[in-house]
Amino acid sequence: MTTKLLFIALALVVAFSPGPEPAFAADETLSLLLPANPLEGSRLFTGKGCLRCHAIYGVGGVAGPDFGQGMLKRSLLDIAGVMWNHSPGMAHVIQEQRAARPEFKPAEMASLLSFLYYVGSLDPPGDATTGARLFREKGCQGCHSLAGKGGDVGPKLDKYSRYASPIYLTASLWNHAKAMAGIMEALEIPRPTFERNDIADLLAHIRTAGGSIERLYVQPGNPRRGEKLFSEKRCAQCHSVDDRGGRAAPNLRMSVKGSLLRIAGVMWNQAPKMWKGMAERGIKVPSLTTEEMSDLVSYLYFLQFVDAPGNAARGQVVYREKRCGACHALQGTGGALGADLAKVEKLQTALEVVAEMWNHASTMEQKMLEQSVEWPVFKGGEMADLIAYLLSLRKGSAQPAAAKGSAQK
Ligand code: HEC
Ligand code: HEC
Ligand code: HEC
Ligand code: HEC
Repeated sequence: MTTKLLFIALALVVAFSPGPEPAFAADETLSLLLPANPLEGSRLFTGKGCLRCHAIYGVGGVAGPDFGQGMLKRSLLDIAGVMWNHSPGMAHVIQEQRAARPEFKPAEMASLLSFLYYVGSLDPPGDATTGARLFREKGCQGCHSLAGKGGDVGPKLDKYSRYASPIYLTASLWNHAKAMAGIMEALEIPRPTFERNDIADLLAHIRTAGGSIERLYVQPGNPRRGEKLFSEKRCAQCHSVDDRGGRAAPNLRMSVKGSLLRIAGVMWNQAPKMWKGMAERGIKVPSLTTEEMSDLVSYLYFLQFVDAPGNAARGQVVYREKRCGACHALQGTGGALGADLAKVEKLQTALEVVAEMWNHASTMEQKMLEQSVEWPVFKGGEMADLIAYLLSLRKGSAQPAAAKGSAQK
């Protein structure tokens, strides 16, 4: 089975099984926005009818765009902004199909958006022909054998042909990297590096050549567990992800790019620099089980899902430009068609604002047509800024950490 098919199978299993409550709390700190199971939201994707019009990698409806290929690989509030932007277009098709427009509780919204983001983490399936070439070119074949062919400096790699997910290979590569590097140095063989889909291609080759009929899959990583591991495995001693953590190495929230495999690839590529730093600090190179590797890279992948704190001053400009004030008041001043946005009880957190905007979008659209207000369209970061502004006006009430930080800027 290819990665994509595996993914879809997993997604649908999750989608149709009655499951636990959504993984999000309405209170949103960085940790709480990390989903425990990114596939959780796939149930909502089906349940709220998105799948009727949207496909993921070709599976699903065709009225709206397909969300495969990392199309929605943006932060939570940016994805919410994109959904909002297209709301009138969607509403139109929903009406034609005589379907009900889905509504969301804040936690459901977060869960769904994290699923849309997660879809972007999956790599295209590996290609065995490319993998065979890489296996020679990167020197693996000189030291390792497959189906009796190749070197015997390192262990036979046939046993890896059981694995369907490349994450198994990345964990082993990480764990054996230091020993391999020593031997490469001794034999004057350059240390290979991995770019975009190399690891998946290599695995595809190993599976073809190794000929196992077993297929071992791994569950999607758990970003929340990954966050814990990041401290436990002492990654945080050198790396920060926000203002916490070490300064000796890059802030991974800023530097990490691309899919899960791409992240595992840079970890391998940068490993010699990490060993040097670890030796200096007396840190033993941490060994990682497959699940731990999977959780860690999922965590790193999800760092960019969590929005950078919005800027309330910029948010005020957004509020004015989008003309929210034509209908809404803030602390008493402004229009009266809609509610006073600084006073509505259930607009205490970013997720509540996003969910309520979405849930009231069709009435707002109607009113905007009547009032000749153009449908507001949000560009990257604008939703976060707007929300930071709205929440900054609620003095004395609970505010999420992100909004607090930005209100002081
Ligand atoms: C009845 C069909 C229909 C349903 C149901 C539907 N959508 Fe859409 N969606 C569309 C159409 C059509 C567009 C394109 C609209 C446009 O371009 O203005 C769209 C666009 C989008 C976009 C913007 C994509 C982009 O970047 O261009 C997002 C995000 C989105 N939908 C998410 C969802 C989610 C999440 C659900 C489920 C809650 C959902 N849609 C349900 C038809 C639908
Ligand atoms: C210079 C020789 C050399 C090269 C080149 C090399 N390896 Fe290794 N590899 C080894 C040795 C030796 C070990 C065992 C290390 C240990 O004992 O921890 C090993 C271990 C491994 C393991 C873990 C094996 C196990 O038993 O679980 C994997 C997987 C692996 N290598 C994959 C690769 C791949 C893929 C490449 C090419 C990108 C490669 N190696 C290139 C020498 C090499
Ligand atoms: C002793 C300090 C140290 C520790 C501990 C450490 N790293 Fe690193 N890490 C580095 C250095 C140094 C680099 C290379 C930075 C550079 O030169 O770009 C790096 C690079 C990386 C990169 C690539 C960043 C990029 O975009 O280039 C990732 C991903 C990474 N580390 C993840 C981890 C993880 C996960 C752990 C814990 C298992 C960890 N690191 C532990 C020092 C460390
Ligand atoms: C043309 C008038 C109009 C404009 C412009 C407008 N709204 Fe609204 N808004 C309304 C109305 C009317 C409602 C109540 C809708 C309903 O009852 O379903 C509403 C509801 C809301 C709600 C839900 C409030 C609640 O009671 O839970 C939020 C949040 C909201 N609007 C935010 C915004 C933001 C942010 C903007 C600017 C981007 C905006 N609105 C622009 C008319 C407007």
